[in-house]
Amino acid sequence: MVEFIDPFRGVIPERKMTFRELTRAVRQSLAAELEATHLYEAIADATDNALVKKVMQDVADEERVHAGEFQRLLSLLLSDEDALMKKGADEVDEMAESGGPVESDSSADVKTVGNLKM
Ligand SMILES: [Fe+2]
Repeated sequence: MVEFIDPFRGVIPERKMTFRELTRAVRQSLAAELEATHLYEAIADATDNALVKKVMQDVADEERVHAGEFQRLLSLLLSDEDALMKKGADEVDEMAESGGPVESDSSADVKTVGNLKM
């Protein structure tokens, strides 16, 4: 599980956040959406119950939308955010173009809690 230091733990804010604190809070919110996505997808993958699987994947997809909102917010707030994100994407593109392994999903072979069900 992702764990960031809670900037408000034990502290009742008596002032508005600084800009730096604000961008850190948005980034922490982004991480929370990604963590929620991971949890809901794991539950969807671990059950044979069709309704639960469908709802969990639907909610996971909604969390991905929320993650996109927070990422976009960071892009608008931080002048270097897009450049740094692009740098990372370019590095991966370079590795992919140089023949790096690009494997397809083999999750059917992965044992999950659902596999333990008799
Ligand atoms: Fe969300």
